[in-house]
Amino acid sequence: MSAIQPPEHRVWWKQPIEPLEITWIVVAFIWCVFMFVMMPYWHVFSKQNLANEAYRSTPEQFIAKAQAMVDKYKVREETEQKIPVVRPPAGGDVYLVARLWQWWPLLELEAGQTYKLHLMSLDWLHGFSLQPENINIEVHPGYEHILQVTPNKAGAYSIICNEYCGINHHTMTSKLYVVAGK
Ligand code: CUA
Repeated sequence: MSAIQPPEHRVWWKQPIEPLEITWIVVAFIWCVFMFVMMPYWHVFSKQNLANEAYRSTPEQFIAKAQAMVDKYKVREETEQKIPVVRPPAGGDVYLVARLWQWWPLLELEAGQTYKLHLMSLDWLHGFSLQPENINIEVHPGYEHILQVTPNKAGAYSIICNEYCGINHHTMTSKLYVVAGK
């Protein structure tokens, strides 16, 4: 039998199963069950597996909310593109727009405070990757992702896009500032 000829036995699923095949099916099944249990376990008892919410939204709605935050809490501008740096009040909602090929605006958060970080793409799929913390979220168009973040260490973190999004994917980098709390 080969891939271009029809199978010898038309009803192939009624053939006896090879011992090696069933062994691998059992191994894979046990691994699946193990991971199924461990994912929630790691979420509760470890620092892995973020809990996030996602809601349907539109680019217009999202950019309006981000713009309102920028208008209110902008502290300065950075880079040649004059990207606003925003320092929103501690504990509030913060918005980060992903678009070709930019993260907008730059956020400045306070260590030890919890924020609701809203993420959305205005065009197509991007990946939010916070380094060196290694937090990864796929950022989809049409969905507003919300995650609770409590930065615990001051510093400048890097944001990179880790989903290939076209010719300038490699330039889609940004920063997240965390400043020491009062
Ligand atoms: Cu955005 Cu890659």
